Amino acid sequence: MYKKEELYQKLITKLLNDSCTVEADYYRPQWHISAPIGLLNDPNGLIHHKGDYHLFYQWNPLSCRHGKKVWGHMTSKDLVSWKHYFPALIPEEEYESHGCYSGSAIVMNDQVQLFYTGNVKFEGGRTAYQCLASLNDDGSVQKLGPVISVPKGYTGHVRDPKIWLHEEYFYVVLGAQNIDKQGKVIWYRSNDLLNWQFLGELAGSGLNGLDKFGYMWECPDLFNLEGKDILLFCPQGLEKENGHFANLFQAGYVIGALNYHTKSYQHGVFQELDLGFDFYAPQTMKDEYGRRILIGWMGLPDENESYHPTIKNGWVHQMTCPRELILKNGKLYQQPVEELKVLRKNKTTKISVANNIPSLKLRCAEMIIEGGVNYQIDLSDVVSIQVDNNEITLKRKNWRTNLWESRSWQGHIELLQILLDHSSIELFINNGEAVLSSRFFSLCDKSFNIIFKGGEVIHLTYWTLSY
Ligand code: FRU
Repeated sequence: MYKKEELYQKLITKLLNDSCTVEADYYRPQWHISAPIGLLNDPNGLIHHKGDYHLFYQWNPLSCRHGKKVWGHMTSKDLVSWKHYFPALIPEEEYESHGCYSGSAIVMNDQVQLFYTGNVKFEGGRTAYQCLASLNDDGSVQKLGPVISVPKGYTGHVRDPKIWLHEEYFYVVLGAQNIDKQGKVIWYRSNDLLNWQFLGELAGSGLNGLDKFGYMWECPDLFNLEGKDILLFCPQGLEKENGHFANLFQAGYVIGALNYHTKSYQHGVFQELDLGFDFYAPQTMKDEYGRRILIGWMGLPDENESYHPTIKNGWVHQMTCPRELILKNGKLYQQPVEELKVLRKNKTTKISVANNIPSLKLRCAEMIIEGGVNYQIDLSDVVSIQVDNNEITLKRKNWRTNLWESRSWQGHIELLQILLDHSSIELFINNGEAVLSSRFFSLCDKSFNIIFKGGEVIHLTYWTLSY
């Protein structure tokens, strides 16, 4: 637990001492969201309220390791420039002693309400409380305390409430592990946010036609898009399967129909949201324009995490760009939100044989490539994108092992959109039919360049990206 005043003092001292080093870091993103110092992971409490987008995030401000998390808080009017606030939630009470873990936000009586997990560890175990807090206009919060504790039949791994309103009830889904160590999503309903009725298991390993599907599901999110009920979740413990589930943990979705009367959910197969190396714990919100927007953590709690070269400069991890979700042909397409186009500067177009395109010295840029079924784009000697007929492969040099590793997507590639931001790359294929997001760390020198290879003509449009 923290004492608020003590944490503030440490935080301010750390900010005063470390901010310059963090901001000067060669790998620091120019326009992606990152914490001012320390470690950032899941996006939390995404909501668009009275013209402000709120993004809260899992934050360890005092170190670059996971630990007692607070909720960082940022707002934006346009999803491009963001304003920081003091942490919204700090673990100060017994029911959240080991961290204010992930959760979500909803508006009730014109006020943003935060729903999060109070993580409690004790000798030999852990438990969790789902807690409520009201956000005031100045960014401060009033904690209302726990409203749900671990139901019978589950371990202490019950967390990450995602809340929504349907007709006259609020509903919440929670990631959970049952006592047989199977990952589940359980759900509850309430009409006042304080008293919750347990509705049972909505989905999970061994349910709704799924076989064994992981020992724990984290960060569920349920929403309706084009009349379909879509459940996002992050299963842990899936075996690798020819090209699928290549990362340590997955983040994906099922599409289905939720029957609120029978409390049953029928859904299709699990599809991964992002096939890159670094993507986890995404969360969505419906904004005041009706768009469903997703932001993910461009990271994973895997063995590479503690080797990020940014740690020595006082920060680690960033978010993905905000993406609009579109349901098309039974798949979720993801597109960078329109607003990001304001970052585009110095448009250049080249129509040329790939081999003849001069290399580009750009570390923060957007590129769109059309035409060509066989070409390669190398980012110095750390990343290589290879388009080969009906397959695209993203290779990167792992900063821990120094070995090349790859991720790929099969399908016809008509259009490739690449967002680059110093140490991150997001590849959007065919207007978001597939996405691959990854971090990479090139040498800190002036020789970084983008090299195009191949004997075919490609149409390349690119911009530098800046405010
Ligand atoms: C996912 C997660 C959540 C948890 C949070 C803690 O990355 O493990 O399940 O609430 O991170 O920071």
